[in-house]
Amino acid sequence: MSAPRVLMVCLGNICRSPMAEGILKRKARFSGLVLYVDSAGTSNWHQDERPDERAIAEMEANGIDIAGQRSRPFKIGDFDKFDHILVMDTSNQENVLAMARNDKDRAKVSLILDFGNEVKGMSVPDPYYDDGFGRVYELLDYACDAFIKTLK
Ligand code: 4NP
Repeated sequence: MSAPRVLMVCLGNICRSPMAEGILKRKARFSGLVLYVDSAGTSNWHQDERPDERAIAEMEANGIDIAGQRSRPFKIGDFDKFDHILVMDTSNQENVLAMARNDKDRAKVSLILDFGNEVKGMSVPDPYYDDGFGRVYELLDYACDAFIKTLK
């Protein structure tokens, strides 16, 4: 089987989804899984920018370097390129589903926290305005562990 392809999606692609990308890549590496992981935003507001400095710092505190990532908008072709499209909140979910062309596209989209029993149905809170990067890290760390288990 070829490597599962996973796309993390948030609004700006500078805070939550770059963190999710970095966390899942490391977990895959540590668990010997070959995964292709990328991230995108439902907006193009920060296109080609580096992740937010606070996201870079939170990830660095956890031993993960995401400074090399660059923001890009989600595009229709991502439905063809990826097997799993993991969105951070219900607004991202609505925006991505609004671009879906058919049931196959829709079936690829999940709220990332739906993979964790303790956090099912919850959204990853947007840390851009409230500085909650530590909480975002914890939630994503938990959800990525749970997601990886579904692939094994
Ligand atoms: P993200 O956070 O969706 O987790 O990347 C945000 C980044 C930027 C903005 C909002 C949320 N913004 O309004 O520019």
